[in-house]
Amino acid sequence: MLTLATTIADRHFKTCLMNAAGVRCQSDRDLNALINSNAGAYVTKSATPAYRAGNPEPRMKMIPQGSFNSMGLPNNGLDYYLDFVLKDQAKRPDATNFLSIAGTSLADNLAMLHQIQDSAYNGFVELNLSCPNVPGHPQQGYDFDATKETLTAVFDFYTKPLGVKLPPYFDLAHFDQIAAVLNQFPLTFVTTINSVGNGLIVNYETETVAIKPKGGFGGLGGASVKPTALANVRALSQRLNPSIAVIGVGGIMSGRDAFEHILCGASMLQIGTQFGYEGTKIFDRVAHELDDIMALKGYASLDDFRGKLKTIN
Ligand code: FUM
Repeated sequence: MLTLATTIADRHFKTCLMNAAGVRCQSDRDLNALINSNAGAYVTKSATPAYRAGNPEPRMKMIPQGSFNSMGLPNNGLDYYLDFVLKDQAKRPDATNFLSIAGTSLADNLAMLHQIQDSAYNGFVELNLSCPNVPGHPQQGYDFDATKETLTAVFDFYTKPLGVKLPPYFDLAHFDQIAAVLNQFPLTFVTTINSVGNGLIVNYETETVAIKPKGGFGGLGGASVKPTALANVRALSQRLNPSIAVIGVGGIMSGRDAFEHILCGASMLQIGTQFGYEGTKIFDRVAHELDDIMALKGYASLDDFRGKLKTIN
């Protein structure tokens, strides 16, 4: 029997496909649509301690090869999302989902994690160290010392399953360095990649930038970032302790893209840009396409090909 099921830290997911934080997951309406879809789990919009309006509009643009945004973490605040996941957990105790947090300081992240630790929540937390769109706040995942400092402080008290969402890395030395930091901690997973930060789209006709925040600089997602995402999934899978699962994000539009992410080592797949464009039916379409590819190749489960990308000798 062919299955797209996957397991991370003994938590079972009926399919490996889910949304990526930031896309159609800000309101309870969005999250209920995910619960009622064929996604294997959902992740909530990255929360800050309190409601945040985000950056001024226009702050998002569709582009031919994907998406371009500088949303600036608009979200309803941690209480809202914690309340949602706790109610959902009471209704569906066997389902594991992801609560994303993205404090703009270490103090904010620690305060939010204390609140989660003290709650009855027993799902996964995705600690976002990679939002490129908060003016004045660099992506922490690019600062290896700060990442180590944060994780040291977190695991001083936090005992529930936690992973980090990382920015894309572009140099083999940086893959080595970030993996050396992450391997020192009892992480459950890493999610890679966040958008490719600080691109610039120019409107040739009007000679202006395309979005308002940060002078027009914003994060790229979708098809154009798939090679970068695959490289990060592959490089981190090769370097991280086997107990740390890799969740692949970036450029997944089809079953073939999903297949490639798994071949590079992903245990679960998050769909961002294309989920934004297509809505929840994307989880059915990509699942069917992935099923067909696996059937054609004679694979019955993800374990049959996960991480088995071949190189050329
Ligand atoms: O701007 C945003 O809200 C994006 C967040 C992220 O990429 O993590």
